[in-house]
Amino acid sequence: MITVKGDILKVKTTYETSPNIALVKYWGKFDEEYILPLNSSTGITLSTEDLQTRTTITLTNKYKDIKFLLNGQPHPVSGRLKKILKFFEDKALAALGEELVPLQEGESQDTKRKTLKEFLNGDLSQLKLKIKSVNSFPTASGLASSASGLAALSVCLFDVYHMKEEYEFQRSVIARLGSGSASRSIYGGLVEWTGVPHQYLQKKFESKNNEIQLSEQEYEQLSKLCIAKQTHNETFFEDLDVFVVAYSFESKEVPSTSGMLQSTQTSELLKYRALNTAHVHIAGVKKAIEEKNYNELARLVRLDSNQFHAVCLDTTPPIFYLNDFSKNMINFIHQLDSALEYHVAYTFDAGPHAVLLVHKNHTTQVLRAIYEAFSINDMSSLSQRAQQTLKQAMQSELPESIQKIIQTNKPKITTTPSYIIHTKVGKGPTKI
Ligand code: DP6
Repeated sequence: MITVKGDILKVKTTYETSPNIALVKYWGKFDEEYILPLNSSTGITLSTEDLQTRTTITLTNKYKDIKFLLNGQPHPVSGRLKKILKFFEDKALAALGEELVPLQEGESQDTKRKTLKEFLNGDLSQLKLKIKSVNSFPTASGLASSASGLAALSVCLFDVYHMKEEYEFQRSVIARLGSGSASRSIYGGLVEWTGVPHQYLQKKFESKNNEIQLSEQEYEQLSKLCIAKQTHNETFFEDLDVFVVAYSFESKEVPSTSGMLQSTQTSELLKYRALNTAHVHIAGVKKAIEEKNYNELARLVRLDSNQFHAVCLDTTPPIFYLNDFSKNMINFIHQLDSALEYHVAYTFDAGPHAVLLVHKNHTTQVLRAIYEAFSINDMSSLSQRAQQTLKQAMQSELPESIQKIIQTNKPKITTTPSYIIHTKVGKGPTKI
């Protein structure tokens, strides 16, 4: 929205976004500069009602310099953020300059309206950005905060500069430049991000030091190809609930950017995965969703998560994102299979936290089973919605088969999660 008070002009927008959690993981870049992924990935965007990044961007002549506040703390404008902002500097700003300034107090409809450029006496460089971003969940802890944060930044920037549909494909490219997984977070439902075609991968893997020379034109082509698209909207996921089970809120040891670089340079398994399995898992996941085959979905999602962590272990030096909590969770979910009609899918990103996809028929039972088996004993470790779900679960007895699994597994479970969020697959970025 454009507002004017005296000499001060403001263009302001606010969006809420949420992380897109990969069901088939992106791990490894074909090119670091353009952020082109070695393999395609697909993931679900969570509902902004339960976890969100709220970003407000103001473009104004009130400030002398750009301001960036992340969770209330000033942050430098460097690296990837700088690169993103560069995209908007000239072309986008020039287009925005042609927008009309709204009427001010005392002006009548007949007043000749000025463009932004005229209002600023032709000097659009007076407009400086203020970016304010707040996460409702821990930043840099392996909970995909960068995906959510950079998706928010991208959609806000396109809106604040009044860049419309013709820029649709760039929205994905710009989010990608911020963080690969952010390109999936700018849409809701199930979102697929296309990887580099196999012939390029083969050339790269066969070359010395994994380096291949491509022309600028070829890179531009690949950049246009490697964008994210929604394949299934959120209505395909009405049968499923999502639990984000966070272990601790500490920052992760190896950030995903450097972790995947190490894997790309050293892991043979990563090459095998990029060439042979990721696309097969994606096709399987899409088919399972369309056919409502939730056990097949769980099988593939688990398999892909475990394969990604196997690649991490196959990296030199090895990377361990899974810890005892993650292992306890994996074992427990497998144990539950014998008692559930629909199996629970688990997936772990570059951190120990579990994301679980649970059929709605089992939501209350699964939450209660985790609550008891992991000795949580404290309602404040649950989000509002998770607390309601647990209360509902407490109204009836758990089936004997689940009770038995809890009893036999509880002594082996040595860890307790710090927080559980109950959510669903969401619609994607929401303008506030
Ligand atoms: C394990 O998108 O954070 O979550 O592109 O370097 O910013 P950069 O990496 P990032 O990596 C995410 C990795 C992952 C899997 C996924 O989300 O697909």
